[in-house]
Amino acid sequence: MNTFQEAILAGIPNELPNTINIDPIISHAPKRKDILSTEEKKLAIRNALRYFPKKWHAQLAKEFAEELKKYGRVYMFRFKPDYKIYARPVHEYPGKSLQAKTIMHMIQNNLDHAIAQHPDELITYGGNGAVFQNWAQYLLTMQYLAEMTDEQTLTIYSGHPMGLYPSSKDAPRVVVTNGMMIPNYSKPDDWEKFNALGVTQYGQMTAGSYMYIGPQGIVHGTTITVLNAGRKIAKNGESLAGKLFVTSGLGGMSGAQPKAGNIAGCITVCGEVNKAASYKRHEQGWVDEIISDLDELCTRVRKAKEGKEVVSIAYDGNIVDVWEKFDQENIYIDLGSDQTSLHNPWAGGYYPVDVSFEEANEMMVSKPELFKEKVHQSLKRQVNAINNHSAKGTYFFDYGNAFLLESSRAGADIMALDGLHFKYASYVEDIMGPMCFDYGFGPFRWVCASADAADLLKTDQIAIEVLEEMVKMSPDDIKQQMLDNIQWIKGAQENKLVVGSQARILYADAEGRSKIAEAFNKAVASGHLSAPVILGRDHHDVSGTDSPYRETSNIYDGSSFTADMAIQNVIGDSFRGATWVSIHNGGGVGWGEVINGGFGMTLDGSQDADRRLKNMLFWDVNNGISRRSWARNGGAIDAIKREMDRTPNFKVTIPNLVDDSELENLF
Ligand SMILES: NC(=O)c1ccc[n+]([C@@H]2O[C@H](COP(=O)([O-])OP(=O)(O)OC[C@H]3O[C@@H](n4cnc5c(N)ncnc54)[C@H](O)[C@@H]3O)[C@@H](O)[C@H]2O)c1
Repeated sequence: MNTFQEAILAGIPNELPNTINIDPIISHAPKRKDILSTEEKKLAIRNALRYFPKKWHAQLAKEFAEELKKYGRVYMFRFKPDYKIYARPVHEYPGKSLQAKTIMHMIQNNLDHAIAQHPDELITYGGNGAVFQNWAQYLLTMQYLAEMTDEQTLTIYSGHPMGLYPSSKDAPRVVVTNGMMIPNYSKPDDWEKFNALGVTQYGQMTAGSYMYIGPQGIVHGTTITVLNAGRKIAKNGESLAGKLFVTSGLGGMSGAQPKAGNIAGCITVCGEVNKAASYKRHEQGWVDEIISDLDELCTRVRKAKEGKEVVSIAYDGNIVDVWEKFDQENIYIDLGSDQTSLHNPWAGGYYPVDVSFEEANEMMVSKPELFKEKVHQSLKRQVNAINNHSAKGTYFFDYGNAFLLESSRAGADIMALDGLHFKYASYVEDIMGPMCFDYGFGPFRWVCASADAADLLKTDQIAIEVLEEMVKMSPDDIKQQMLDNIQWIKGAQENKLVVGSQARILYADAEGRSKIAEAFNKAVASGHLSAPVILGRDHHDVSGTDSPYRETSNIYDGSSFTADMAIQNVIGDSFRGATWVSIHNGGGVGWGEVINGGFGMTLDGSQDADRRLKNMLFWDVNNGISRRSWARNGGAIDAIKREMDRTPNFKVTIPNLVDDSELENLF
């Protein structure tokens, strides 16, 4: 046994490890709100000390109190292991259960320095998306996974491993809940308080479920969105060649837009006020050119349009200036969006026009009221310019960043004539919902547990073969999605998107996911693949997420404010054979605004895995299509009827549609 395996099996070490110096080179979580009363602070320390023997309490109590004062949380830095954390080949993990070893592979991937946003604070992405609350939870969880058998289930309460319980080989090996609150205690400050107490955490969507695979997921989702937005505006089925997409933000998720624009084949102009962000994306090759002068930008865009170039350009400045300049210069914008962080408008998510980046950073702290006023003025100007473009024919959509909501709060001219709705739709209402989710297409993903790139290449080829066979028989309404995904997977190696584990994402429907998984399982059984394949998906999917302003925003029967679908989904996945399941409060749109869940499934080449994958993947997609169909979504009604024709034993309730005339003069 090597030292890494010994360390995993030791869990919390017998000897108190040395304190560690905080590495200034890597990114760290911001200091969290000082929200606890003195008594509550004592409770937080008492809670933290539960993990350790009494003999260490006097020393650790002081140290943890210091962490609480300095960072607003107790991370237990001293217990961060000194081995390198990354997705190792699965056989390197100690243990009795192969399934549990694949979960260790995924946990370590989510904490890898190359992947995680703030690795020391166990945050994977989104500023607060935690895998665990502290290092003791990590150590104990890894130890439990290394000890457990396939007849036990480990339960994780917001990062805390409660323990191993007897179950059966068909039960999940791990059940994760993150941030589940009594509904009245689900405001943002409740997260601050209960997270500081050490009793809950914000798992985002894929961080706390160990399913984050780096930037690839965002690039693919954004590509699918831009391609389908392009289709919405295509008058004669033409491609995006020579068409202009204007947007903003080169940050965490927004930085995928120029790369996606290139893959989709258009001209992308992306405004970014933070030079560091623009240059980082340029160095990574995610944006082709950077231009700081507006006249130069106009000349370059005209040339790109003439030559129908596929090119992405970062405008080093405020996006409002771009919208206004292109309006004055009559540069036609085909597609428009915005990915500034307007879910966080007062603390650096949105930079107002005519205020320099440095000045804005100063102003938001020293003169918050003035800053707010500037943001409101800026949004009004941005919306006016977008409205002018829209009058000329631009298709503008909200990218789930609260642009429409904050613009309305700023008093911008953004409401439709009825005064109830916005002038523009969101990407889920117009694109992702009706074109993908209603038909079951969503972000399916897999990871090769061998950590071997050669295995990933083989899985790509298997997926291409399966989809090319399926597309021959695909009905017209889903053929385009199938072709997009075949094109994506063929270009996936070339686009070099793998960071961390050997992972691939692909939008597929229930049948596609199941057929690809079945083929992988066979390839593991025959030895064509050298180790198991782990299946999963983003929670941002057909059935996994109830979120009225995002994933379920195209549900119009009033049920978008319920969370039955996400809960049904996770329960259903768990008894149909998922290797692990998770359910979360929070995610991209905020604590209390969404319930989302997901799964992981290990394909080890066995007959059992074959049975489980068919049963579980069928449910995992068709649950959401049934609900979308019951909400009267046309695409979903067609898709679910087709599934009933195909599948014996499957029967759902189909809605009777009502003529509006029946509702006149009733009240
Ligand atoms: N990409 C997706 O799939 C997706 C899905 C749903 C929601 N979103 C939302 O998109 C938003 C962006 O996410 P992110 O992770 O990239 O955030 P981020 O904060 O990392 O990046 C936003 C960028 O916008 C820049 N910016 C702010 N104001 C600007 C202005 N006026 N002009 C030009 N640049 C400006 C900032 O400097 C920053 O770099 C978030 O609100 C997120 O929730 C994205």
